[in-house]
Amino acid sequence: MTSNTTAHVAVWEQLKGLRGEELTAWRMNPVENRATVKERNLDTLPLPFGWFMVAYSDELAVNEVKPLYYFGKDLVLWRGEDGQARVVDAYCKHLGAHMGYGGRVKGNSLECPFHAWEYNGEGAVVAVPYAKKVPPSAARPCEAQWRVVESNKQILVWYHPFNEAPKWEPESFDQVHDPEWTEYKKYEWIVYGPVQNMAENGVDAAHFKYIHGTDSFPDYDFEFDGHIRKANVEAKMPTPKGVVDGTIAYGTVGAGQSWTKFSGISETLMIAGITPIDQERTHIRFAFTQPKSEAEGPMANLATAMRREICKQLDQDKVVWDRQKYMPKPSICDGDGPILPFRKFFAQFYAEWGDDTKKITKLKIDKKAS
Ligand code: FES
Ligand SMILES: [Fe+2]
Repeated sequence: MTSNTTAHVAVWEQLKGLRGEELTAWRMNPVENRATVKERNLDTLPLPFGWFMVAYSDELAVNEVKPLYYFGKDLVLWRGEDGQARVVDAYCKHLGAHMGYGGRVKGNSLECPFHAWEYNGEGAVVAVPYAKKVPPSAARPCEAQWRVVESNKQILVWYHPFNEAPKWEPESFDQVHDPEWTEYKKYEWIVYGPVQNMAENGVDAAHFKYIHGTDSFPDYDFEFDGHIRKANVEAKMPTPKGVVDGTIAYGTVGAGQSWTKFSGISETLMIAGITPIDQERTHIRFAFTQPKSEAEGPMANLATAMRREICKQLDQDKVVWDRQKYMPKPSICDGDGPILPFRKFFAQFYAEWGDDTKKITKLKIDKKAS
């Protein structure tokens, strides 16, 4: 598609020539020669709590078992005969088999591959087929409970480092189930950086020009409200027919769920799942749905171009995010966008920090520089 960008953007050089399968692989492959977690200060940020996507609903059939690795933990996911998805810690309380490999569904329970102990969704052993009595320590539910919901055709789990119960519900969107809207088009990335750096991108007003090459800084309208953040952005969007004034509305729900609605050119709803793998890596999934009348009609090229453009922007950010150092006390200038309010907002998801406001960055704007 033609672009409204004329400036040379150095990052684009690194992406030049990446197409098709090569691009898909680049999005998921390990990043070589990167600095350590400690050198990049990534060990100073806890994992945020909240609802996080671990799979799409259609990736888990009834009676299917899958290993997961998120939040620095080995987990196992299965769907019982009742259709419900469940998650427990992967290692069996008996002799430690990883139940994501060879475990199977029995009724609504998960059967360990090693000696067939059976688990319910709370991680309690409900049966040992060759014993008269289940040992009381195994019969107790696990301290770490992995609550699971399915929303927007995604399987989400609640992560909290101190196992506190969910503090909000995930947001759901009617379009996802509307027959007039397309099935999801899915894209994914593994970024070598924490969720916070990625979330900060939305308020980083200046980067749009320098890394995404937009010819102006977007006009923002921000709102921070409890665990929800919303913004409306009036932006000039590149289309095959030239630059068009468009509106981008986006929101984040906790740290793990985010959505973006584009209107003005080709209506598009993108629902993102942003899930910490460990202290260093984050799994990002973008799922797009668009009105069939636009995505499958004469405007199909435009609808495809919208998705490509959005994914291209993530590719461009990834080049930086993969090696970015977390700066607890960055130098900030007046044109930078609401980075301080954002960091205060985001700190609410760090249970380990509690009310320790010293951990929340004090940013200084040098008035003389403005
Ligand atoms: S290790 Fe799981 S049943 Fe023995
Ligand atoms: Fe960006």
